[in-house]
Amino acid sequence: MNNNIRFAIIGFGRMGITHYSIINSHPNVEIESVADSSAIILTMMKKYLPVKTYKDYNELFETSKPDAVLVCTPPHLHYDVIEKAAQKRIHVFAEKPFTTKYEDASRLNNLFKDSDLINQVGYVNRFNDVFVKTKEFVEKGVIGKVIRFKSEMFSCTITKSDDGSGWRASRESGGGAVFEIASHAIDLVNFLIGKPDRITGSSLTHIYSKTVEDAMSTTLLYENGISGTIYINWSDPSYRKPTNKIEIFGDGGRIMADQHSLKIYMNKANKEFQLREGWNTFYITDIFNSVPFYVRGNEFTSQLYHFIECIQDKTVSNRCSFNDGANTLEVIDKIFSDYELNAKF
Ligand SMILES: NC(=O)c1ccc[n+]([C@@H]2O[C@H](COP(=O)([O-])OP(=O)(O)OC[C@H]3O[C@@H](n4cnc5c(N)ncnc54)[C@H](O)[C@@H]3O)[C@@H](O)[C@H]2O)c1
Repeated sequence: MNNNIRFAIIGFGRMGITHYSIINSHPNVEIESVADSSAIILTMMKKYLPVKTYKDYNELFETSKPDAVLVCTPPHLHYDVIEKAAQKRIHVFAEKPFTTKYEDASRLNNLFKDSDLINQVGYVNRFNDVFVKTKEFVEKGVIGKVIRFKSEMFSCTITKSDDGSGWRASRESGGGAVFEIASHAIDLVNFLIGKPDRITGSSLTHIYSKTVEDAMSTTLLYENGISGTIYINWSDPSYRKPTNKIEIFGDGGRIMADQHSLKIYMNKANKEFQLREGWNTFYITDIFNSVPFYVRGNEFTSQLYHFIECIQDKTVSNRCSFNDGANTLEVIDKIFSDYELNAKF
């Protein structure tokens, strides 16, 4: 009997193709169908890939029943695709930012939370070994009581005047730097520190784009006294690749981390974690868990293999569920509302 997990991919652009190459390497996966609305992509797939192709994802859902679906369309389409997958009882991995509205994200979360369907959002930093190590240090109190943090993300996505076409140039479609990259910086904060209680002082800045923001900064406040800031910019040509940076200050030390390395300053040595007083450095090459197939970074493979593991073994709890995706959307909603309030001044 063939026990392979049958996958469909909806949206076969940059992320759809990346995910295809990764899950295709898994011995227990069969990619049976792909849906994309682009005639060019469909022609290419028909020529080179051994999968059923659909121009309309509704037809895919009507004529086939995969076990799992990867949702890689522009964000405003995620809600409809995921709702249809739920009706068909299909496991879902959805790319970030999950949906474009918190209320939609909550509705989908409620739909999945009491079912046995696996649900995951593509916040890939949760699978990066440096950020996993950072979480361990924070949770075990290695830098003492957390007082203050700074979460940043930079990319060179938009570096010239934008003509306003394409989904990234419209907030309704899930474009703009907040949905596209701040979502990662916010999710990292939710993952490492927890969801903030209040948002204040949000600013959205245009650099090249006319219709959406290119940069954003905001302040996050917590009832327990922690505070932090987020600054993101997708129009910074000094970054060749998307880069997340997080700095966390505690009363026992300080951590500075990005996807590639972690520096931790210890006020006093910690024998249990083999950390000396002063600076200690960890590189990803020292602490990574290897993956069977590498594309773009170990974390991209780890997150999809984790999704597959959760389908195979229902006792494994998901590391980035729809609940986590909804939490990020809640913060994004608050940032937009806070900005609207400030924009009146
Ligand atoms: N995790 C990450 O690091 C990361 C990086 C980039 C993008 N993303 C996310 O992945 C998703 C896709 O982004 P992308 O960069 O691959 O975009 P893309 O524009 O390269 O690909 C989107 C694809 O969806 C297709 N599409 C559009 N409408 C469709 C429809 N009605 N039915 C089927 N297909 C349709 C398009 O033809 C295109 O091929 C977004 O949610 C984005 O935010 C995540």
